[in-house]
Amino acid sequence: MAEPVKQSDTQTPDYKLVPHRQFYLISGVHSPEQVDQIQNWEIRDSDIFIITYPKSGTIWMQQILSLIEARGNVMATKDQLTSERIPWIELIGSEKEFISAPSPRLRVSHLQYKFVPLGLKQKKGKVIYVARNPKDVLVSYYHFHKFAEMLETPKDFNDFFGKFMEGKVYGNCWFEHVKTWYSHKDDMNFLYITYEDMIKDLRSVVEQISLFLGKHLTEQELANVVEHSTFHNMKHNPQANYQMVSDTLLNHQKGTFMRKGTVGDWKNHFTVSQNEKFDRVYQEKMKDLPLTFVWDIN
Ligand code: A3P
Repeated sequence: MAEPVKQSDTQTPDYKLVPHRQFYLISGVHSPEQVDQIQNWEIRDSDIFIITYPKSGTIWMQQILSLIEARGNVMATKDQLTSERIPWIELIGSEKEFISAPSPRLRVSHLQYKFVPLGLKQKKGKVIYVARNPKDVLVSYYHFHKFAEMLETPKDFNDFFGKFMEGKVYGNCWFEHVKTWYSHKDDMNFLYITYEDMIKDLRSVVEQISLFLGKHLTEQELANVVEHSTFHNMKHNPQANYQMVSDTLLNHQKGTFMRKGTVGDWKNHFTVSQNEKFDRVYQEKMKDLPLTFVWDIN
């Protein structure tokens, strides 16, 4: 088993990446024993799981899903933290609450496919997987590491680039994540969405999700969901920025969760040689997968 990845001296010492079954968990945030129990969780047909690699638009989908469930009524979602409306399954203590929660249980996770509740593979419940072009994921994750106190502050962009490519970050290897989830899509009730599709045509994606969930929204309800899920509106929403989360987890002086919300910011960060290296690895790792990504939108 590999050594834990060391955190720098400037980090709160309790948080560190701890390897568990070829995946990193964050000590103080996740418990390996509890994560191993997730596969035994009993799944109801009404359960809905959002699955993402970090920085792929998780909070965006959380906002969309909770608004769809509330039929576009933002007042019904306003006073509850996003993480309370759609809790993380991998967090310490999540199981007890999951068992007793009323339906529909909406949950979110960054875990790899191998930790999945087995019921999902028997086509119980539903999975919405959101993927984002990995160059923008890398950039967004780099900025996130600069203000997330539970993650190591990168020395510089190149340092983080190396760690991401080696999968030495929470979420591990982006390629593995998308590949393993996507290649099992037919085992589950599975909807694959990309961040770039949401940027290009949010309304269509909201319609697609509503259809997948069997929720028939009126035109007005649909328009309300879209309106309260735009980058502009979410940027001014304290919940979407995790402003209630303590500075010991997110240092709000150093960064904002709703940062840029664009496609193609990687061009402002990658050097030519980093880009060439990325493309080489991407082509090799993704060659058997019928997925394409939009890398830039003008
Ligand atoms: P950037 O850092 O590139 O701005 P996650 O929730 O998975 O951590 O993803 C966060 C990323 O999604 C951030 O990307 C954030 O700005 C972006 N995001 C969140 N809501 C969005 C929205 N409504 N429109 C566009 N991007 C959004």
